Amino acid sequence: MGTGSSKEATDGGGSEGNKDRTEDDDQAADGGQLYVSLKMENRKLTGDLVPHVYGSLPLVGSWDPSKALNMERESVSMWELSFVVPPNHETLDFKFLLKPKHSDAHCFVEEGPSRLLIGGALGEDARLALFRLDSGEILEYQVFAKADRVSPFDLAASWRAYQENFRPSAARWIPDVSINPAPQTGGENGSSAGLELDLEHYVVPAPSTSANSGLVYAANMTENPRSLISGSGGTSYSNKGMEVVVPDSSKAFQSSRMVESKSVGTFSPLQKQDSQRGLFVDRGVGSPRLVKSSSSNIFSTGLNLETTTKNSMPAAAGAVAAAAVADQMLGLKEDRHLAIVLVGLPARGKTFTAAKLTRYLRWLGHDTKHFNVGKYRRLKHGANQCADFFRADNPEGMEARNEVAALAFEDMLSWMQEGGQVGIFDATNSSKRRRNMLMKLAEGKCKIIFLETICNDVSIIERNIRLKIQQSPDYAEEPDFEAGLQDFKTRLANYEKDYEPVGEGSYIKMIDMVSGHGGQIQVNNISGYLPGRIVFFLVNTHLTPRPILLTRHGESQDNVRGRIGGDTAISERGELYSKKLANFVGKRLKSDRAASIWTSTLQRTILTATPIVGFPKIQWRALDEINAGVCDGMTYEEIKKNMPEEYESRKKDKLRYRYPRGESYLDVIQRLEPVIIELERQRAPVVVISHQAVLRALYAYFADRPLKEVPHIEMPLHTIIEIQMGVTGVQEKRYKLMD
Ligand code: F6P
Repeated sequence: MGTGSSKEATDGGGSEGNKDRTEDDDQAADGGQLYVSLKMENRKLTGDLVPHVYGSLPLVGSWDPSKALNMERESVSMWELSFVVPPNHETLDFKFLLKPKHSDAHCFVEEGPSRLLIGGALGEDARLALFRLDSGEILEYQVFAKADRVSPFDLAASWRAYQENFRPSAARWIPDVSINPAPQTGGENGSSAGLELDLEHYVVPAPSTSANSGLVYAANMTENPRSLISGSGGTSYSNKGMEVVVPDSSKAFQSSRMVESKSVGTFSPLQKQDSQRGLFVDRGVGSPRLVKSSSSNIFSTGLNLETTTKNSMPAAAGAVAAAAVADQMLGLKEDRHLAIVLVGLPARGKTFTAAKLTRYLRWLGHDTKHFNVGKYRRLKHGANQCADFFRADNPEGMEARNEVAALAFEDMLSWMQEGGQVGIFDATNSSKRRRNMLMKLAEGKCKIIFLETICNDVSIIERNIRLKIQQSPDYAEEPDFEAGLQDFKTRLANYEKDYEPVGEGSYIKMIDMVSGHGGQIQVNNISGYLPGRIVFFLVNTHLTPRPILLTRHGESQDNVRGRIGGDTAISERGELYSKKLANFVGKRLKSDRAASIWTSTLQRTILTATPIVGFPKIQWRALDEINAGVCDGMTYEEIKKNMPEEYESRKKDKLRYRYPRGESYLDVIQRLEPVIIELERQRAPVVVISHQAVLRALYAYFADRPLKEVPHIEMPLHTIIEIQMGVTGVQEKRYKLMD
């Protein structure tokens, strides 16, 4: 008897209460068998009692409750049992029964006569099933019955599909870290999986909102000077023909990682981070819950994605919540807002570092904005100021520069008063005088941490200077590259005369960190979980150019059936993609044997990686698909039909919606943080073979997409997204290997 085996056949459109027999039915009747699906639904939880079916031959062969067949849970409220009735036993009488999970004692048999199934007709069997409990309480279940006549051939095919679907993972024996040692001969994996020699053949346009920050000068992407542009309080504006959408504010404290240092210390890049943290807090469904603080201020404990509220608290649980409460409620008022004030000579990668940190903090859910003083200066005093403007002994120049710095800082403070959490203040701030001015402005309003970028590598400085002449609006109108270069070098020399390295207050010094080889981070007077997390991020980032390839697994059997989650193998098309992908990876990364292949622990990604040879493969649990909880294995249609409230809640807020006993997109982002840190830390190319929801979250980090867009990002099958990490930002290219 095949419980569950008839799902596809019975859901696939058989006639309900099959009384009107058609010609086809009659033809099939000769050798046909009856496929029966019984369902019971009760929206109220029934504790430990599991619905069962028992009855006459051939169902179980006796009316003995200990031989009753247990129904399988299809959703929170729906139970199902499918079975096949052989042609010579078409009369069946049965009853429903409730039994405790692991015991035959204390069963409750349904009230009323037994149910009859004769020749595929289920008569009046759709009546309610009523159970009288010991307490006298009556439990009511709705009953759904369906019978389809199927040919032995269809039955065999369906049984095969069932077996394939539920057979043990074909990827189980593959260790967490592996490498296919012997490259396959011939290079191509099967003729139909061959690829054009020229990979450009497969390039498809990336969406307009894609990860191409490397093409845009980073300072242009920063906050618009609201004090200089009338009516610029809005959320989107234009820069060089590119629409810049300021992400919505969102606040989530998600880690309890703390770094505390009261004296100068040195951090070196961490080799490994602790494994994923599972945070299972409230369901995250519906609108943010409001709680009253002890001081009777109203705080939003949910992620506030649409509005900015004063003193809002992030969504958090456990240790993370404890850290957030300590920092946000028990700490000083000014500690609730953090200003990261960049310090350093021009061409030391300040703006790049600021942009990267902004992207990371936003992705984690911290409301973060990047304020670039150069942008204010260009707006107030024009873009083409020559080197003299930047001399420390030029009083007008000094005053003008201090003025725009103060304006930008005031804008940042105003934004913080409206609820902003972290301001990244990007300017040279290279003298004590300037830093004192900022500290005075910040008094009682926000905590300042100076972030100094120091670079002693002349070749890197020279490269940065050249990039500056090519990209900065300061030199957009200078047709002569060499003249621009000369002017910028004089400007740099002017700054050097007045430069005073940071030695005061709380600070992080990044010394020669850009190359990813060596370097060090010094921290002083840094405490609290968010500053700690910032230090951790900075310790692990660098600018070595390398590609990161993101792809979903090849089409899975569940993809074909439209079922979510699960752990099925890949389909024939999926296998073809896995071979094409192997060819692609071999061609694209052939010169880089240090590259690695990361998969999830689900067999559809491991099988997709199987034909790739010669690169180490690593399985990450953190790369597993979003956990759909009780909906795992269902189709969206089934969820809509059987759990309409869940379906609607997810539709309303897909980012925060948490599947019952599963995850939300925010949970996925949280568990992906170690993956992002490791991707930042790697210097060789990485191929990530994962799943739709997970890749949306990873991609959003590189493309700097607002959190609320994450669940809706397009992530097609059989397509590779290449993220090129470079010295000016990230660039994206897409390859579609199959339709
Ligand atoms: O359908 C494929 C799949 O990877 C499911 O396993 C997963 O639940 C789903 O995509 C995630 O996408 P969405 O969040 O749009 O439902």
